[in-house]
Amino acid sequence: MQPSGVEGVIRAAHHGDLPQILEIESRCFPRQWNESQFYPAFKDLFLVYEEDSAVLGFIIACSCEVAKRAVIMRVAVHPRDQGRGIASRLMERALAELREKKIRTVDLDVEIPKTDVKRLYEKFGFKTLKVVHVDADYENDAFYLMQLRFA
Ligand SMILES: CC(C)(COP(=O)(O)OP(=O)(O)OC[C@H]1O[C@@H](n2cnc3c(N)ncnc32)[C@H](O)[C@@H]1OP(=O)(O)O)[C@@H](O)C(=O)NCCC(=O)NCCS
Repeated sequence: MQPSGVEGVIRAAHHGDLPQILEIESRCFPRQWNESQFYPAFKDLFLVYEEDSAVLGFIIACSCEVAKRAVIMRVAVHPRDQGRGIASRLMERALAELREKKIRTVDLDVEIPKTDVKRLYEKFGFKTLKVVHVDADYENDAFYLMQLRFA
């Protein structure tokens, strides 16, 4: 069932969405992707949630059909619209599309301070595999590596 208050559509992102996507990015992440870092995503799974002609959230996943593996790279919802089930709808649709591509394993990482965000992924069956520590110049200094295996 669709969560109440969520009446928009989910569709493939296009280049014209970038100003709104960059606005959401700037409000959601301390370390942001610049415009050119989004370009390759248009060739992969890049979905937006749109309501009244406004983009309120997006999700990006890259996948390798040969290896049957995918990685969720980015999920973000405008702070004004968080808590309405938008990310859940984006995840649901992205995972359905990955399943259709016969992907078997989906990975993602969650920054350690964002422990509460793990619940979003756990709702979809992701399990925490381990905590990873990396160099400070990488995007996240320490994160949970989470994985979903499709049955
Ligand atoms: C994480 C994020 C995408 C969730 O978007 P959202 O549309 O508010 O998520 P939903 O309304 O679909 O909520 C999904 C679940 O996630 C959990 N959740 C998500 N963010 C949460 C937060 N900040 N605090 C507590 N719980 C949170 C809730 O438990 C919720 O489950 P529920 O259905 O039982 O209520 C959004 O908060 C965001 O853009 N954050 C900034 C960017 C970010 O951290 N992205 C994830 C990188 S790992």
